[in-house]
Amino acid sequence: MHDRFLSRDARNMVPSAIRRFAKLINDPNIISFAGGVPSPETFPAERIADIAAKVVRERRNVALQYGPTRGLPRLCEFIAARTGASADQVLVTTGSQQALDLIAHTLLDPGDVVLVELPTYIGGTASFHARSATLAGVEQDDDGIVPASLEDVARRVKPKLLYTIPNFQNPSGRLMTQARRDEVLRIARELDFLIIEDDPYGELVYVDGADTTPMRTRDVDERVIYLGSFSKVLAPGLRCGFVVAPPSLASRIEIAKQAADLCSGMLDQSIVDELCAAGELDPQIQKVRAFYRGKRGVLIGELEKHFANLARWTPADGGLFTFVTLNADVDTAPLVEEAVKHGVAFIPGGPFFVDGSGRNTMRLTFAKEPDERIREGMAKLATVVARAN
Ligand SMILES: Cc1ncc(COP(=O)(O)O)c(C=O)c1O
Repeated sequence: MHDRFLSRDARNMVPSAIRRFAKLINDPNIISFAGGVPSPETFPAERIADIAAKVVRERRNVALQYGPTRGLPRLCEFIAARTGASADQVLVTTGSQQALDLIAHTLLDPGDVVLVELPTYIGGTASFHARSATLAGVEQDDDGIVPASLEDVARRVKPKLLYTIPNFQNPSGRLMTQARRDEVLRIARELDFLIIEDDPYGELVYVDGADTTPMRTRDVDERVIYLGSFSKVLAPGLRCGFVVAPPSLASRIEIAKQAADLCSGMLDQSIVDELCAAGELDPQIQKVRAFYRGKRGVLIGELEKHFANLARWTPADGGLFTFVTLNADVDTAPLVEEAVKHGVAFIPGGPFFVDGSGRNTMRLTFAKEPDERIREGMAKLATVVARAN
């Protein structure tokens, strides 16, 4: 009955194709590689509790009050210093997901074209769909975006924006090389489009020598809008992310944010601000890295043990995921049901590809399960995959 009242944008919104797997992720009987969330074991819960109590009692005029739309000034300055930006480029957002939505609202008219990686983060495509944008896929290989594909697609579709996740991408786990990043910047300059550089995983590095330097540091003509997040290094429930944008765009995004929520949660920001100001962010990042490094090693070891003749996978040198590619004629979507019958779950890769490809891929996270269950689950998954291959 209400359909006829819906806006055009609402009609174009696409529900998450992976949130429906939430049941599987939370069923304790199923060993889950399907999650997309950080492990609660990494959350500095005691410190958050202490700081929350302190700021609520002692700084209620800040922590419980409306605040500036741009964010808590000291936190903005911390982010500016850490990213090598100036404070007028920074906006704190309600997670980087809100940044994606605000940027889409600020830049996109219906029908504008956004280039996305094949595969890409579903929350990104959701924000662009929600503004009735048209999406076009750009190929990736193990070094990141393939420049020839980017150039070819961009010449054809004349995009306004490229959305990229160069550091340990969700879902592919890939790290884009610096040479590729330079190519991406060159093509954006030549063909005149903007770049959203989404970087929630850049701090989660498990190997030596991984170069995660953002493209933004070489952005000579104000094309790059950089997104960061405290979700993966502190806790996603704090809903604290940020944008670093060219100043003229930052002010536009600020106006969109005024309409969206006046300001992000001040209690959340106060907690993050206190932790950062006390110098606790870097030690916390070290702890988080150590926690995932071991698990990632177990999962990759099991892939080598069971999947050597069945699949290819990305090394997951950082982030939360490895992406597995099976024989071209295997469809992983119906395999989920089969896997669940065997007590194990994964996310099929198809929904991450805007061009309908990738049906023979799957995303696995090592974040959720203890080492022993990772071993047990991978053996079960190998049985299911071997039958389908
Ligand atoms: C690539 C990417 N961008 C953005 C987000 C959203 O993160 P948040 O809104 O918690 O900062 C996620 C969450 O998983 C993600 O994987």
